[in-house]
Amino acid sequence: MASTLESELPASLNREALMQTLETRETSRPSEGEMVAIVGKSGCGKSTLLRLLAGLERPTEGTISVDCDLVNGRNRSARLMFQESALLPWNTVSENVALAAPDRARRRESALEALRQVGLAHRAKDWPAILSGGQRQRIALARALASEARLILFDEPLGALDALTRLEMQNLIEKLWQQRGFTAILVTHDVEEAIALADRVLLMRHGEFRHESLVSLSRPRDRAGAEFAALKAEILSRVLAE
Ligand SMILES: Nc1ncnc2c1ncn2[C@@H]1O[C@H](COP(=O)(O)OP(=O)(O)OP(=O)(O)O)[C@@H](O)[C@H]1O
Ligand SMILES: [Mg+2]
Repeated sequence: MASTLESELPASLNREALMQTLETRETSRPSEGEMVAIVGKSGCGKSTLLRLLAGLERPTEGTISVDCDLVNGRNRSARLMFQESALLPWNTVSENVALAAPDRARRRESALEALRQVGLAHRAKDWPAILSGGQRQRIALARALASEARLILFDEPLGALDALTRLEMQNLIEKLWQQRGFTAILVTHDVEEAIALADRVLLMRHGEFRHESLVSLSRPRDRAGAEFAALKAEILSRVLAE
């Protein structure tokens, strides 16, 4: 599912070159129900990879498959969540979430259930504009849950939040991922977030996965622990060295 470059790209990474050289590699592929984090410097191709997996971009060479199904056009089993919640301002909170539910007949129930799971059922009738940034991201998370996607692609979803809200959202994502069992790919600039949440942290450079760190710490992860700190220092130094 994940990808790598076969050959070194020119220093000025160009998107066409990146998309031509992306190809699947067994070792980096997330297994069902796994949480994989991807870290790497700005412009290395993280968002491009997620868009390819979501079927929002087409690879100019090679193929993308989820399980054995080839991604051809929009990947209905995947859902992308971005830094901006992208809620429709003319729809209420529950209508925004309901739009993602695949079963039209059960849209209202699915939306309310998803809102309950993120702790915002009481805001169902509100307009998105009156919510805080953190609440809007929780609605975006509810929308991803309501879509029943088996694969949720997180593209720095917490990047714009304050530290405390971010921590709460990390805990919520971990809890819901454990409860619902979806596969998650989390792109983040925050190495601590990657280690706190992921089973594996992949380091990307110029569209290629250069290193993989297994995070074998028990959950919930003790961020103050020595092992956590050592892993964080190691991954950080690798990211900076790239
Ligand atoms: N719409 C676009 N048109 C042309 N080139 C693009 C476009 N979007 C991204 N690129 C280029 O493709 C390369 C990979 O971009 P991508 O957005 O995947 O990087 P990223 O790792 O997500 O970076 P960041 O951490 O800053 O979000 C970069 O060189 C970028 O400039
Ligand atoms: Mg990006």
